[in-house]
Amino acid sequence: MQYLAITPKLGAELEPGTELTSFSDAEIEELKLLAAERGVVVARDQTMDVHSQVGFGRRLGALMETTVNPPEIPDELIVIKAGPKSKSAAGTAWHSDVTSEAVTPGLSMLRMEQVPDSGGDTLFADMVQAFDALSPPFQALLKGLTARHDSRGHYLYRSGAKRLDELPSSNHPVVRTHPLTGRDALYVNAAFVSCINELSKTESASLLAMLYDHVAYSVSFQCRVRWAPNTVVFWDNRVVQHHAAFDYYPDARLGYRLTVVGEAPTLATAN
Ligand code: SIN
Repeated sequence: MQYLAITPKLGAELEPGTELTSFSDAEIEELKLLAAERGVVVARDQTMDVHSQVGFGRRLGALMETTVNPPEIPDELIVIKAGPKSKSAAGTAWHSDVTSEAVTPGLSMLRMEQVPDSGGDTLFADMVQAFDALSPPFQALLKGLTARHDSRGHYLYRSGAKRLDELPSSNHPVVRTHPLTGRDALYVNAAFVSCINELSKTESASLLAMLYDHVAYSVSFQCRVRWAPNTVVFWDNRVVQHHAAFDYYPDARLGYRLTVVGEAPTLATAN
């Protein structure tokens, strides 16, 4: 698969003329591997609507569903929308998608229909590089730990649940191994993780704050995608965290995200 690297290790932009909807099964597998290796894959100028997006998504795997969409929007899509009346937008903190599930997402696929004149970029941070940059003793400590991932209030309106306690909480390893590449990646994020199970409250809060700073401030592990209408971006939630910049108010942005079911996170070489 031909692509331009966004940074040396993170992100791939597929060559102009790539048409996702005419991909063969072998190309779908190549796309999954590219997302696993590069974290983020960008495809420009894709002719799709909400239905063909879901049709394509199903070729990537089983899709997560919501129950809150109007009838014209398939239940497999999350509407990502902000405009002149919005006080906030979805995804404006570093996170990996829906890590409170026991079986967490693999790929997400976001297709943008309307973008602001400027701004509204999505930032990505590479959790493989973030883990690799830590010292061996610190890596060893992290490999012995698990974190509790709770659903948060912001997730209620998308899930159809009425109360937080109807939503799942899960424990996952702090470092997980990618099933396709075998690479280890940091797997804690500020949007869902409430604590590290094996540590005291103070130790857990300090360790998480240090790791979140490491993710947010290590710009050399990050890339930034500028959207245009009909841009489609895939990211592998096992590899990257993302952060949607809400810097375009009162301009509008509209897109549709689907999320592919992955697997329960595991660490291949626990301490
Ligand atoms: C999200 O899925 O977190 C939203 C990403 C975005 O709007 O760029």
